[in-house]
Amino acid sequence: MQPVQHLADYRPWPFLLSQTRLDLTLAGRGTIVRAALDLAMRDPDAPEDLILDGGAGLQLRALTIDGQAPDPAHVTRTDERLTIAAAALPRAPFILETEVAIDPEANTAFEGLYLSGGIFCTQCEAEGFRHITFYPDRPDVMTVFHVTLRSDLPVLLSNGNPVRTDAGVAEWHDPWPKPAYLFALVAGDLVAVSDRFTTRSGREVALNVWVRPGDQDRAGFAMESLVASMRWDEDVYGREYDLDVFNIVAVDDFNMGAMENKGLNIFNSKLVLASPDTATDTDYERIEAVIAHEYFHNWTGNRITCRDWFQLCLKEGLTVYRDQQFTSDLRSAAVKRIEDVQTMRARQFREDQGPLAHPPRPDRYEEINNFYTATVYEKGAEVIGMLKLLVGDEAYARALDLYFTRHDGDAATIEDWLTVFQDATGRDLTQFKRWYTDAGTPVLEMVEDWQDGTLTLSFAQSTPPTPGQPDKPARVIPIAVGLIGPDGDEVAPTRVLEMTEARESFTFSGLGARPVVSALRGFSAPVMLKRLMDDATRAFLLAHDTDPFARWEAGRELALSALIHGDPAASAYIDAIGALAADESADPAFRALCLTLPGEEEIATRMAAEGSTPDPDAIHATRGDLARRIALAHQDLLSRLYDEMTVPGAYSPDAASAARRSLRIATLGLLARIDGGERAEILFGVASNMTERMAALAVLVRLDRAGSALKVLEAEFADNRLVMDKWFAIQVMAAPPAQAVAVARDLAARRDFDWKNPNRFRALLGGLAGNHAGFHAADGSGYDFTADWLMRMDAANPQIAARMSTAFETWPRYDAARGARARAALERIAALEGLSRNTREMVSRMIA
Ligand code: PHE
Ligand code: ZN
Repeated sequence: MQPVQHLADYRPWPFLLSQTRLDLTLAGRGTIVRAALDLAMRDPDAPEDLILDGGAGLQLRALTIDGQAPDPAHVTRTDERLTIAAAALPRAPFILETEVAIDPEANTAFEGLYLSGGIFCTQCEAEGFRHITFYPDRPDVMTVFHVTLRSDLPVLLSNGNPVRTDAGVAEWHDPWPKPAYLFALVAGDLVAVSDRFTTRSGREVALNVWVRPGDQDRAGFAMESLVASMRWDEDVYGREYDLDVFNIVAVDDFNMGAMENKGLNIFNSKLVLASPDTATDTDYERIEAVIAHEYFHNWTGNRITCRDWFQLCLKEGLTVYRDQQFTSDLRSAAVKRIEDVQTMRARQFREDQGPLAHPPRPDRYEEINNFYTATVYEKGAEVIGMLKLLVGDEAYARALDLYFTRHDGDAATIEDWLTVFQDATGRDLTQFKRWYTDAGTPVLEMVEDWQDGTLTLSFAQSTPPTPGQPDKPARVIPIAVGLIGPDGDEVAPTRVLEMTEARESFTFSGLGARPVVSALRGFSAPVMLKRLMDDATRAFLLAHDTDPFARWEAGRELALSALIHGDPAASAYIDAIGALAADESADPAFRALCLTLPGEEEIATRMAAEGSTPDPDAIHATRGDLARRIALAHQDLLSRLYDEMTVPGAYSPDAASAARRSLRIATLGLLARIDGGERAEILFGVASNMTERMAALAVLVRLDRAGSALKVLEAEFADNRLVMDKWFAIQVMAAPPAQAVAVARDLAARRDFDWKNPNRFRALLGGLAGNHAGFHAADGSGYDFTADWLMRMDAANPQIAARMSTAFETWPRYDAARGARARAALERIAALEGLSRNTREMVSRMIA
């Protein structure tokens, strides 16, 4: 069993690798991989054993050093590695050649080389390359790859530029040294949607989005998104593309969203394929963002990679930050910010609050695949946003230029990243670094004092204990604050207060009348802000705040207070929300966000943070009641908006059209609380785009009258996997909680519940986890059903089982009876013989 890995144990690899030549003869069973590695000892005076990673699935057929087979006594093979004793190694540079056989067809873990519907493809991040050949599978070993692919399949792709393509054989050369996790190959019967891009300095790049024959008409939006990303990275970060071709391939079986392999990005097909009748507005926005994310990795991830996997947020936090900026620039910045904050709270705050809490840069792990988390990605991006706010836009731009010039070609660390900022700005970032090393969501309390024209804001920060980190020192917290006068005008524009102590006060003087404080504007730090504020003041900010995030947040606070404490907050909220919905000067997407109540999970997270025990059934009922009250109070306004917010003409996924649809859908959801689902029924029948059809379907499922709509959709899309994934997910996610587990059980018994497909599995099990009161059913049936499937999945695909186990991460916050049932389910998983390292680590952290 692999021991715990520690950041503090880092050591460079004792060999140098200058070139990797691979030659693969592809077959479902018995793919032959020949590898030639040009190696040299780093210090020939202190020879060390050569240790290469290599999984149990590699069948070693030949091994030579400079053409000679070593004495077998010097070669040791375990299930995880191959060791060649120093005694068998030349002191001068040498060539190690291996030949192994592997079985892609038997690979259900989708890590390394596997087959997805007849397409050979690879997934090597984080440690998949070791399932292809024996290799130093670590990100700080970077080398030039030369790859030969042999197969009768028509399309043969790898990283870099094509050198030769003949019938049955293709050669690729990647001039940019890279770690093995960025290696990729694809072989299959594929067709391309193609375009060209000329970089700023005149390089002609051929662009291809490869899909299965028949899917070309759904690949156009992905291509447009790629072109927009390439242009944006030149314009905003001055980053150009550096090869002659850029290939994107869509595959159906993929553990994650997509992968930034150099010059050959491989995507989960759900993040490439889109047409108005099959994809929703949210899908389009996701596709655009993920295409950009993977493309941006070419600089932040590939040209500059990570020294070790503890540094994962170096590439992921920065790349998420960049894709968020891209979406803000292309669409509405205000709406994007609010959406990102919602994601942070729903996923990252939740993670921070439970047993899986960890810092953006962890210092220990057992299985790195368990650390592709909201903390590493989303909080990693928030930390960069704070850094930019603290140093300013101009200094941020200078620091990034320095980062790209200083570290191009490096495998870098968080320390390198912070040093760049220190050097570019002269600022000491020692305290700021705690955001990277400390887990937990700081709680920030704010108290106001008003005297003689002077407003004093006193803040106190504290971070609750997290696993392994009982006490945490104060962090630098940028608090963006603006002041609104009693008449609704802004009397002090946004000022960023820099809090560095556990307690600190800031004053604003020379004020005529007492202003209303708009705090944590733009969500300037990922903290939980606590302040005493009455409902009238919240309603005032919801009406007048000039900062869109803070304005939305005022409504959110009011809604949470209405949901948790009932009246009078509820009536204040209902009044305020009506005024906002009627405000035609506000962006429809913003109005939609304000009209959508916090989800049940978010309510539970807030209750737990306030020290109470959430009751899932009560939360579900209360939320439904409040929605009904809103609908009753604003019936006419909502139905007018529902009728007005149609979008004339052919469907287009642009932000303005999507915004109107989102407001229409928000009103539909509320009106369904009083019209019995009549509008949804009609909309499902007449809508020609998937956005409105899915919204209508969700309402019908919730009202338990979706029977015929589900049949219609199934008949229409039985052979469209992506639509059927939605069909599976919505039935479980929106089901009345008391039925959710039974619905999931019935669906799991269907022949088309192809559970080994990660998307289908996630649709069903993720759908159940997303049904808060259903998953947390008091009888424990949600826990048991999920545990059974996790155990089954673990044997086939440990990464997926381990990720899905996070459904349980909040269990300690519920009542004792639920807690006992959840724990019993986790213990049942822990006791399973042969449980993967992935799931074992997750489960043991959750029951520690
Ligand atoms: N590096 C990928 C991304 O951020 C995510 C990924 C991780 C994909 C591991 C596959 C496996 O886009
Ligand atoms: Zn990424």
